[in-house]
Amino acid sequence: MTITYADKIPNNVDLAGDKGLQRALEHWQPEFLRWWTEMGPEGSHSADVYLRTATSVHPSGWAHFDYVKMPEYRWGIFLSPADGERKINFGDHLGEPVWQEVPGEHRANLRRIIVTQGDTEPASVEQQRHLGLTCPSLYDLRNLFQVNVEEGRHLWAMVYLLHRYFGRDGREEAEALLQRRSGDRDNPRILGAFNERTPDWLAFFMFTYFTDRDGKFQLLALAESGFDPLARTTRFMLMEEAHHMYVGESGVGRVIQRTCEVMAEHKTDDIARLRALGVIDLPTIQRYLNFHFSVTIDLFGADVSSNAATFYSSGLKGRCAETKFGDDHLLRDAVYPVVQVIDGRLVAGEAPALNALNEKLRDDYIKDSVAGVERWNRIIQKTGIPFELTVPHKAFNRKIGPLAGLKFAPDGRVVSDSEWTAKQREWLATEEDRAFVASLMGRVAAPGAYANWISPPTLAINKQPSDFEFVRFN
Ligand SMILES: [Fe+2]
Ligand SMILES: [Fe+2]
Repeated sequence: MTITYADKIPNNVDLAGDKGLQRALEHWQPEFLRWWTEMGPEGSHSADVYLRTATSVHPSGWAHFDYVKMPEYRWGIFLSPADGERKINFGDHLGEPVWQEVPGEHRANLRRIIVTQGDTEPASVEQQRHLGLTCPSLYDLRNLFQVNVEEGRHLWAMVYLLHRYFGRDGREEAEALLQRRSGDRDNPRILGAFNERTPDWLAFFMFTYFTDRDGKFQLLALAESGFDPLARTTRFMLMEEAHHMYVGESGVGRVIQRTCEVMAEHKTDDIARLRALGVIDLPTIQRYLNFHFSVTIDLFGADVSSNAATFYSSGLKGRCAETKFGDDHLLRDAVYPVVQVIDGRLVAGEAPALNALNEKLRDDYIKDSVAGVERWNRIIQKTGIPFELTVPHKAFNRKIGPLAGLKFAPDGRVVSDSEWTAKQREWLATEEDRAFVASLMGRVAAPGAYANWISPPTLAINKQPSDFEFVRFN
């Protein structure tokens, strides 16, 4: 299972043994590089960046760190090892051996799942492409670039599946993945949150904490797939994904740390004063959190969905950690709690569990998100400041599903349109908040230097010190 770097496209799928596929992917490769040059991180192309590259797919010691010019990064195709015994663990095909080829009757649904996942990967690179110009340090710049090259590799992971298993329409989908553009009016990315802007570094950290975590839960559900190549691909992607969420969690944590230090030092919680001191006040951080959380939970789709039921019953997409459930893995008679809006009120209800799988995955996600927010609160507590960040109610600011029909406060209270209009500025990041945060974003690019609004990391990368020259400009 060692990865061969001798091939034009590094891989552990014996690409050389399938000349037709190899040719097709080698044809797609320059198109990918053209996309990277045009839409990848701005102003980065000649810098040497201290990046990790996968050298093996084993959880212990799979990465190698060295300086790389990003356009020369070796994007490759890496699947976690096959388990010859693996069985389908849920749905109508429960107990049957996993599929090594795409079953004809599930082809269209599988392609749709793969394309939807694949589309998010280049989208986030596009959303983040200007951030390098305002990096708070070389360490952060390196982390941004690491996330970007790995999202590029995740695109490769999905494109491999499309080319290898879906023939001509797979190749067409692979081309379309390079043609859609985040935020484009005529040809946008498929999912809403991936068309939002990521204009500043607080937004970037919130995005990698909340939205990359949506990626984690989607990948966990796909890692259960009865289509084995998809399961194996997503398993390896999850190993890379962990770092992206770490960048987000530690990034927001460092912003909070710095703000609290300045609050304690100057004995103030006056927002204007803190802003004048050049740090991001905690209420603004809360409003960013509310925005990114609510936009991200929409990505899980409608609360009750017949597609989700079909994907599960047909063995394409399981529940996160499917084998840990002690139930029948068919869910035909089971129910699941969902919130409903009845007569303008939020009421606890239930739906057939099969149809509520989006809601179940969203709830798993919410639990995981809350845990990190509690860790942020511990940073605040340690400095003795009486302030607590909270994750808004899942009904807040929704655009998808029945909850989108009403307006809710962050605590889940139904509010009138006029209250929403009056309070929205307290709940979601405003233009003024964003303009203030943008005003702090200046480029800090000397080794060991950090912008005033963020603390240095306690742990840098690969045991390097925080003043290491993570990026060298040429
Ligand atoms: Fe990704
Ligand atoms: Fe990611």
